[in-house]
Amino acid sequence: MLHTGTFAASAAGPPCKAEANVRKQKAPRMMRFADKTCIVTGGGSGIGLAACQQFAREGARVVVADLHVEAAQKSVDAITAAGGTALAVAVDVGDSGQVQACIAKAVSAYGAIDVIVNDAAMMTFTPIADIADADFFRVITTNLGSVFYFARYGLAHMNDGGAIVNLSSVHAHATTANVVPYAASKGAIEAFTRGLSIELTARKIRVNCVAPGAVDTPMLWNNPNVKSGAEKVTGAIGKPEDLAAAICFLASSDAAFVNGTTLIVDGGRLAGL
Ligand SMILES: NC(=O)c1ccc[n+]([C@@H]2O[C@H](COP(=O)([O-])OP(=O)(O)OC[C@H]3O[C@@H](n4cnc5c(N)ncnc54)[C@H](O)[C@@H]3O)[C@@H](O)[C@H]2O)c1
Repeated sequence: MLHTGTFAASAAGPPCKAEANVRKQKAPRMMRFADKTCIVTGGGSGIGLAACQQFAREGARVVVADLHVEAAQKSVDAITAAGGTALAVAVDVGDSGQVQACIAKAVSAYGAIDVIVNDAAMMTFTPIADIADADFFRVITTNLGSVFYFARYGLAHMNDGGAIVNLSSVHAHATTANVVPYAASKGAIEAFTRGLSIELTARKIRVNCVAPGAVDTPMLWNNPNVKSGAEKVTGAIGKPEDLAAAICFLASSDAAFVNGTTLIVDGGRLAGL
């Protein structure tokens, strides 16, 4: 921010050279991901989309991986229109073969991977007493299985010193009825993250979670518990960009000493009783 007082004395005349130089300066732009390749699942919407955009602004080559390839392509088009580099890849993150194909496309386009963000997820809204086996395990496979698949098949292609960021949720810590598969998958993601971080210390690949509270995305407003008021989101509602900032922090060397943990980004929602 420029201090207006600096220029008060010359307001009547043409700016001196030093003043003109200061005026030309912009806030320094962070380029923490220059020459890095980042894969973001669920990059076609909401938090994943905002993360793709921030990675690209900070110099990354971004692989936008999403079930809905049109949404991924829209995200890529916006990034490339702004001068960034990105590739859309269609993938169902709950399918091992598709995840392996996604990783192969990323490596063939951009070489080794530096960052993986596991953002894509789904919810069901049926009580455990009624839910079909297939629906329970679809949530577990999509949300938790995807984190496993991207680690299992991505690690061989990751540069040492890279980072994995997994999206958990406040539901891993406090929840409502009828979303048990989702809450369980998010709790398991946090445990998976801790364990994997220990396995990867020698390679200096850090593994962390971001646990969002209520964030203004389609997933929030399509949630029937939110629509009915069973899940109250009358407190702070975050913007996707708030979460992108936390994801990019954990993925960057700014978080070099942050490993195996969960950053709750909920505007203070969990702090209150
Ligand atoms: N929005 C919130 O309030 C909130 C709160 C807590 C946690 N989260 C978590 O944040 C993450 C992002 O959520 P969001 O709100 O941005 O959701 P969103 O619905 O806006 O976006 C999710 C994206 O994931 C994609 N996706 C879904 N299933 C997929 C699959 N099987 N394979 C590939 N892509 C798939 C969708 O196509 C979509 O583009 C999720 O992990 C979610 O659990 C969100």
